[in-house]
Amino acid sequence: MVAQPLSKDPQPAASSTRPVYEIERLSKTYARNKLVALDNVNLTIQKGEFVSVIGSSGCGKSTLLKIMAGLMPPTTGRVVLEGRPVVGSRPDIGMMFQQATLLPWKTTIENILMPIEIREGRKAAKEATTRAMDLLQLVGLGDFANVYPGELSGGMAQRASICRMLVSDPAMLLLDEPFSALDELTRDFMNMELQRICTERNATAFLVTHSLAEAVILSDRILVMRARPGHIVEDVRIDLPRPRTLEMINTPLFGEIVAHIRDLLGKEAHE
Ligand SMILES: Nc1ncnc2c1ncn2[C@@H]1O[C@H](COP(=O)(O)OP(=O)(O)O)[C@@H](O)[C@H]1O
Ligand SMILES: [Mg+2]
Repeated sequence: MVAQPLSKDPQPAASSTRPVYEIERLSKTYARNKLVALDNVNLTIQKGEFVSVIGSSGCGKSTLLKIMAGLMPPTTGRVVLEGRPVVGSRPDIGMMFQQATLLPWKTTIENILMPIEIREGRKAAKEATTRAMDLLQLVGLGDFANVYPGELSGGMAQRASICRMLVSDPAMLLLDEPFSALDELTRDFMNMELQRICTERNATAFLVTHSLAEAVILSDRILVMRARPGHIVEDVRIDLPRPRTLEMINTPLFGEIVAHIRDLLGKEAHE
């Protein structure tokens, strides 16, 4: 081992190769049914990277994301985010799930400001109102700030929850099939918006998706998972240039990447 000089000062972040997440020998067995949902998952995510995970239903994608979010402890192994072990929910993590989980008794804008209100109080939430309104405009919900979630369609509620995730400017985005409720055109649009937002903020993202095209168009790396027990079979680097455009879907390179991942998924791809 090479001796490293000791320094009391924190080192400045190296621009592109600073690990944000370090996940080592992670496994999860659900006690109730003794099911091994994850087995020996090792993963490092660098600052600014967009990493997707793809695999058949039940292969452990959501389990992995929940452990990364600190919502559930692993059985063995550890998860470190920004040098600190993840042992519970954290303000530097923004999350989105399949369901929008908006509170029905709060208006759209109140829902979006909720995380800030809980963490920093009412005054801070009030100060973030303009920013929340800008985000609502961005996703086409400018006229729906003061309605209740019951009046929003599934897709609209999901767009509101994107705003809620972004309003506190998290460094790490954990996304569990966030756009699967949206129609295809809106979904394409949201994916391009997500790319823009991630690039502008140098945010790091981890996306669980069922859509191979979505994963390829957004990601720097795609983790291909297989079930029983859930494990990563390959970490595929996506060498398409950035910024990505929807037109890239029609290029030969895109087709080759999709074919390669389909191969890896094998029969599991056909659910
Ligand atoms: N709370 C739980 N208790 C017991 N088994 C669970 C629980 N959550 C998920 N599982 C099981 O663990 C496996 C992985 O689930 P999950 O992570 O949700 O997969 P994915 O998100 O890839 O569809 C599945 O077989 C699922 O049935
Ligand atoms: Mg899932």
